[in-house]
Amino acid sequence: PRPILLTRHGESRDNVRARIGGDTPLSAKGEIYAKKLANFVEKRLKNERAASIWTSTLQRTIITANNIAGFPKVQWRALDEINAGVFDGMTYEEIKKNMPDEYESRKRDKLRYRYPRGESYLDVIQRLEPVIIELERQRAPVVVVSHQAVLRALYAYFADRPLHEIPHIEMPLHTIIEIQMGVTGVQEKRYKLMD
Ligand code: G3H
Repeated sequence: PRPILLTRHGESRDNVRARIGGDTPLSAKGEIYAKKLANFVEKRLKNERAASIWTSTLQRTIITANNIAGFPKVQWRALDEINAGVFDGMTYEEIKKNMPDEYESRKRDKLRYRYPRGESYLDVIQRLEPVIIELERQRAPVVVVSHQAVLRALYAYFADRPLHEIPHIEMPLHTIIEIQMGVTGVQEKRYKLMD
């Protein structure tokens, strides 16, 4: 059975400032994760010559995968973070203060709430379909370097978690979730490489 390795990008500069969306590079800490991830992947997939690394089209995932040598890299726009529309670049505090109704609507139904001119979790789940089909077809291991909302949806698919849980699944930074699909079902391992 071949593993699928899921990870968020290393901490970004916007993560540090608690801003959502955007396209910033990594913080110093995020850069350290990128190095640790490369070491981990190169060891874990040492004899897996057909493996590949999939990222989103946003800087923070591409930079996170940069140090991983020896495998082809594929950028998918479908792996980009949930589009926060008009709230892109804001903090949750700012949204709460300036647009309290929007803030409350999202809190009430995070799965279905669609950011003005942006996406809902349901939208993200739908756009992931081609990625899932391709992941299912792969015979070799794949490392997916993506974002919190997207990885919640991908993880839920493989771990068979119900739709309503998706927006609330814990998806920590700097942690690799390894999923193995075998005949007896899905097995999962977690590797926390740093805080
Ligand atoms: O920037 C977006 C976040 O990664 C998604 O988090 O859906 O829990 O607000 P959230």
